[in-house]
Amino acid sequence: MGAPATDRKLPFHLRGNYAPVFEERTLTDLAVEGAIPPELRGLFVRNGPNPRSGSSAHWFVGDGMLHGMRLEGGQASWYRNRWVQTRALLEEPAPLLISPDGIVDHSVAVANTHIVRHAGRTLALVESSFPTEVTPDLGTKGLHDFGGRLKTAMTAHPKICPRTGEMHFFGYGFFPPYLTYHRVDAAGVLVQSEEISVKGPTMIHDFAITEKHVLFLDLPVVFDLEKAMAGMAPKDASTLTQGSGASPQGDSMPYRWSDDYGARIGVLPRGASADALRWFEIAPCYVFHSFNAFEGTDGRIVLDVCRYPKLWAKNSGEFESASPYRFTIDTTSGRVAETPLFDDAAEFPRIDDRRAGLRARFGYAVTNPPVGEFERGGRPSIVKYDLTNGERRAHDLGGRVPSEAVFVPGGKGEDEGWLIAYVYDESRDTSDVVILDAQQIERKPVATIHLPCRVPYGFHGNWLPDE
Ligand SMILES: [Fe+2]
Repeated sequence: MGAPATDRKLPFHLRGNYAPVFEERTLTDLAVEGAIPPELRGLFVRNGPNPRSGSSAHWFVGDGMLHGMRLEGGQASWYRNRWVQTRALLEEPAPLLISPDGIVDHSVAVANTHIVRHAGRTLALVESSFPTEVTPDLGTKGLHDFGGRLKTAMTAHPKICPRTGEMHFFGYGFFPPYLTYHRVDAAGVLVQSEEISVKGPTMIHDFAITEKHVLFLDLPVVFDLEKAMAGMAPKDASTLTQGSGASPQGDSMPYRWSDDYGARIGVLPRGASADALRWFEIAPCYVFHSFNAFEGTDGRIVLDVCRYPKLWAKNSGEFESASPYRFTIDTTSGRVAETPLFDDAAEFPRIDDRRAGLRARFGYAVTNPPVGEFERGGRPSIVKYDLTNGERRAHDLGGRVPSEAVFVPGGKGEDEGWLIAYVYDESRDTSDVVILDAQQIERKPVATIHLPCRVPYGFHGNWLPDE
């Protein structure tokens, strides 16, 4: 079954349920507790790093593996896990993401971070490369570069506007142009690419849209070329695709916290040219993920995120905790109000994606998330936040540890539907898929699907309903 490694000398991302699994399985006749809602017809699929060699230099750089659970007719038809068949996985030696003369190859693609569907294509994503298109049964079709129009990497966190069907995203890089905004129309055609001027190369993991704007996060985790070169011998300059030789701390990302860079949110009208962009200063922090953003009153724009006070000040293998936090950007005065929303150590924020860019009342996240040493204590839970009144409700998982919980619509109301997540049970060393009623989150799950194997902790996923 691939018992998890327990050697404490290993970096966290190679131990316990972070450790990779080595078998691609197709499982049917899964044990179910409760009743799977018959309205759920589709695939719940989550991406995550799963280095085929058994080792990677950092949690963020292992080969991508998809874990899919197909639901239909009140049944769990199958579970299957498949590596995304990227060049980084298939070629030996692993191809270089950055060549010794500084050329970045966006076709390398470990594709380990997220999976989204837009305009009929299902794309496995990683922010250092082009997307990789996959099939409904998690086979790999190949790279998708929008017919050759995409010239940068693509973030793993594109935003699909529920009103227009457009997909907005960005690409960032180690070398100029450091940041590029892209817009894809509802038919899947890349119709706009705009270079955004920033002071330097920062790590930009996520962003946000509103009905009228796109918001960029230029935050002080900066690319460190010296660290990149020192930490990566020529054979290993591909650490960002697939590495070996992990350090005890897993400190191999070529980024570091900067006390000098500053922190800004960029606001650009959707579809505008880059010269319309305005920057708004905020207190230094880091943000991997946003819940959502929306147009407020009187020219204000509201952005809700999970905020880290600092990130990677000592090394990139350690993660502090993030908490839900609100930026209210006053586009008239130029000032940004900053408001902590909840005290939880929380990550993997999600909303009902039908509200993306619109005022959303509810946010969902996981607390005591599986980022690094979750052994710090506390009870892992899936939480539901009312972002309008500060109310918080939680589903206690009894010590089991959730991956990201994805909201699946089941009715017109914003919280009419379910939350679905992979959950790891250390006592059995196996994982479950848990389905919660989003309106009654604290109640026992509507259904729990037991797997006879474990699903390593990973990153993001989506519910892909049958079309
Ligand atoms: Fe992410």
